[in-house]
Order: sequence, then C-alpha cells, then structure tokens
Amino acid sequence: MNIKTFKVEEWMNEHEKTAIFNIADTCVNTLSLDELFSLTNTNKYEFFEKISEKKLGYGYIQGSPDYKKGICKLYKDLKPENVISTNGAAGANYLAFYSLVNPGDRVISIIPTYQQLYSIPESFNADVQYLRLKPENNFLPDLDELKRLITKNTKLICLNNPNNPTGALIPDDILKEIIKIADGIHILCDEVYRGLNPDCEYQTSITDIYNKGISICSMSKIFSLAGLRLGWIASKDKDVIKKCLKHREYNIISCGVLDEIFAAYALEHAEQIINRNIQIIKENLNILDNWVKEQKQYSYIKPKSGTTALIFYDFSMPSDEFCEKLQKEKGVFVTPGFCFEMENCFRIGYAGEKTEFINGLKKLEEFANELKMQESLL
Ligand SMILES: Cc1ncc(COP(=O)(O)O)c(C=O)c1O
Repeated sequence: MNIKTFKVEEWMNEHEKTAIFNIADTCVNTLSLDELFSLTNTNKYEFFEKISEKKLGYGYIQGSPDYKKGICKLYKDLKPENVISTNGAAGANYLAFYSLVNPGDRVISIIPTYQQLYSIPESFNADVQYLRLKPENNFLPDLDELKRLITKNTKLICLNNPNNPTGALIPDDILKEIIKIADGIHILCDEVYRGLNPDCEYQTSITDIYNKGISICSMSKIFSLAGLRLGWIASKDKDVIKKCLKHREYNIISCGVLDEIFAAYALEHAEQIINRNIQIIKENLNILDNWVKEQKQYSYIKPKSGTTALIFYDFSMPSDEFCEKLQKEKGVFVTPGFCFEMENCFRIGYAGEKTEFINGLKKLEEFANELKMQESLL
C-alpha cells in the first residue's frame, strides 16, 4: 500500500535533536511525573506502592473504566461505551479511517491540517477533496465550498478544531452550520488541542452537538503527557464504535495498563493541569503577539486557540530552505509551511518553555535582519 511521506513528522524527526531553540513543538510544555505529582499534591512513593501491585496483563481491552470515566468528564453527556482507548490521537485517527473508509468513498478534509486527515484516506484509495482554509477567511472553512464538495458518495468530513497549524477556532455557530450541511454524513473532528483557549471557555466538541460526530483526542497536547502515547475516539454513534472496535482487535488488542493508570490519574486532576496549561498559553501568546507587532519581515493571523501559529515571512525563499538555513545559522527549530502544503511561512509552537521561546524569537528576528541586509547588498 502506498502512502505519502508524512512531511511534518519527517521534518520533526530530522531536526529536533540538533535544535538549540526548539520552538516547533506543539505540546504545552511537557510534564515529568515529578511535576505532575507536585501539581496535584501527591505523595509519589504511596502512588508507586499502589501501582506496583498491579498485574501487567492486557488489562481492560477497550480501555480502563477509570480512564474512560476521566475522558467522559471532558464532554457533555458522554458515556464510557462511547469511548475507545487508542495509541495516541495518531492511533485514533488511523483506526477511524481504517474502520470507516472504503475505496472510492469521498472524504472531504480541511487543509492545512495534520496530514493524517487527508493522506491516510488517500492511501485507502478514497476520493479525497481538500477544503482549503484561507488567511482572508481567518482560516475558517468556506461553507459554500463545503456544500459544493459534498456528493452522494461523501462518507466523511474531516475537521481539526482548534486547527494545527493556524490556531483557528471554529465558532459554535459555524460548527452548527457545518453539521446542517453534513446532514447525516459523519464528521471526524481532530480535537487534540480542544480547550486550550487563552480566554479559558469550555470548547464545544463535535460529539456534544452531533450524534454522527467523531471526536479524536489524546493526552499529548492538552495534558502535556505525549509520552504516555494514549488517545481516544469518542462518538455517540454505536455503529462507529462497533466498527472501530472490530478493526482495533487486529491492530492493538489493548493499550498499556500503566499508561492508562497515569492517564486516569491526570484526568482526575484535569482542572489543575488545564489551568497550568492555559496560563502558559496566555503568557506565551502575549509574548508572541507583542513580538510580531514589532516585526517588519514577519506577520501572522493571531491564533485563537491551540499551541501553534503560522508566521508568514517577507522573503522569496522556499519554506524548507528558509527553515533549514535558520536552524543551521541560529539553532532555531521551526516547521516549514511546505509540510502543510503552504509557502512563505513556517509554523511556530508557542506553548513550550518560556525562556527558550523568548530566546528563539530573538534569534528569528536576528535571522530576518541579516537576510534583509544580504538582500540589500545584492
Ligand atoms: C492535529 C493533530 N492530531 C493528532 C496528532 C497526534 O497526536 P498524538 O501525540 O496524540 O498521537 C497531532 C500531533 O502533533 C496533531 O497536531
């Protein structure tokens, strides 16, 4: 089976180890277990004493009850039977496409987004159509374009809300319009950044308002625990859950017992972790916004939510060359627009460690000044 290279993952693999200033990462400043225990006032020795007794069998095949209970609390009216535990959101997306998409089915996916949402269905020979998010629409979906793309063969509409890389957040009224247009077609919404809003409001999930909605999420971004490699599929559609479980048997049997214990524990303390993370996002977004305002060669559309922004630059240089040169000369690691089928821009992750972020921005500015100078000498 042919599948396109996963550009963003390939770029991250090749560049993250040599970065001095990593401002490409999309997780909110990752937690160690010590930090997690300190945030939640827990005695780690007592905690480990308890989990050491656990038998390391397969555990609960479809996900532990405590883990699922914690997930349900993040949604409106969600029940444990609506949830499937997966190997990260990456595993959740893959499993959903593998279970629901047949060759020839039309799948409509927004772009730019995480490449899984279009390249996986393409690899299954689906008829994938792109719904392009444009800066002039603040990177929100064009509803007339969506209407035009829907045919009687349309199986799935793929959204990513909040959006990686643009940080756009679909407001509830537009989400409801999309549901009206979908009119019974399943909507898969990758919600791995859900709730990471500087203004701290509850973010509606697709499953809160649409029975044919499929929410994909994980412990990686919102809870800063990507190393657990745990995520989930949530849907109120029993048929979706049944099909995904059937395919999952061939794929993972169950997720890690220890991973689910840590995830359930983090979810029990969701409020503390989310409050910490929103604080980081608020502060760093403010720093980014003030920085962009002072830049002559960089501009952006301020993100509304999530952990990433697309920064446009005023140089005629392909984005991979720009980012390669930037890292080589200044040690700054960002992700080129070409990983998202865009040019003259790069993605920045602004939710990492504050000092590294500030220093990375300074180096970005230096780089632009030097490029400008070189241009003027030509
Ligand atoms: C939109 C989106 N979906 C899914 C993933 C994969 O996340 P996970 O670590 O949960 O597998 C990412 C990771 O960057 C992402 O940005």
